[in-house]
Amino acid sequence: AARSGSLPFEELLAGAEAAAKLGSQVVLDALDKPRRIDYKGATDLVTDTDKKCELAVLQEIQRRFPDHLILGEEGGVIGNSSSDYLWCVDPLDGTTNFAHGYPSFAVSVAVLYKGRPAAATVVEFAGGPFCWVTRTFTSSSGKAAISFHLLNFSNQVERSLLVTGFGYDHDEAWATNISLFKDFTDVSRGVRRLGAAAVDMCHVSLGIVEAYWEYRLKPWDMAAGVLMVEEAGGKVTKMDGGEFSVFDRSVLVSNGVIHPKLLDRISPATKTLVNQGLDFSQWYKP
Ligand code: IPD
Ligand code: CA
Ligand code: CA
Ligand code: CA
Repeated sequence: AARSGSLPFEELLAGAEAAAKLGSQVVLDALDKPRRIDYKGATDLVTDTDKKCELAVLQEIQRRFPDHLILGEEGGVIGNSSSDYLWCVDPLDGTTNFAHGYPSFAVSVAVLYKGRPAAATVVEFAGGPFCWVTRTFTSSSGKAAISFHLLNFSNQVERSLLVTGFGYDHDEAWATNISLFKDFTDVSRGVRRLGAAAVDMCHVSLGIVEAYWEYRLKPWDMAAGVLMVEEAGGKVTKMDGGEFSVFDRSVLVSNGVIHPKLLDRISPATKTLVNQGLDFSQWYKP
């Protein structure tokens, strides 16, 4: 169904699916080849595959939607800055995993309409050497392809499996998250650290983990994953429980029922760490 003045979400979703598929072919071709690695920081890697994949994704989006704005992790922002549509592209989410051949990582493509995720596709690479498999998550606002399978659905933190992530900057939020990792490990069935934010959120949408949180993410890390969780019937907020936007710097996603129980366990001091850091006004003016 279309919102007035906007493209039908089906058209956006078809674009996201096609672009992510082209990107995932670039990644597939690279799986068994040596990596060429550059460094953006001491442990912040980028491979030639990140760049090649982004190019393939961007070309497809531009071909289909020449008047949209596109934000890619490796290429910055291109296109029409007054467009209501902003594509957020993470050509390879989980670059460190990809560089090592360690599952999982993903190609993540989302389009925002007036700042809110409208359609998205995440192609997850799982399995590992000799048994790579891909799993595609795709959703548009109001229509989910995959939602919680209810086998393990837990409404108690004590019976939940959780997952988090840690950014490359070892700042105050990073250190605080080390303590949160300890606190939540103590009260849950465990906290995993997989290394690909988009995949983590897709796993919440599947119901194989009950919740995921992280600080200091960027729009391309979150835009697709949060839509999967929302459309599966889960909940998405900032780490202080406040209303989430992809231009925020922290995210807590869950199956919904354990959301308030998780927030209860985050201290007021930790809750103030939600949004320090980057200014996204160069990309987006609400
Ligand atoms: C990173 C991954 C990782 C998360 C980092 C992200 P990248 O993205 O999603 O899981 O912990 O915060 O920056 O650099 O691999 O696309
Ligand atoms: Ca990422
Ligand atoms: Ca990336
Ligand atoms: Ca990166």
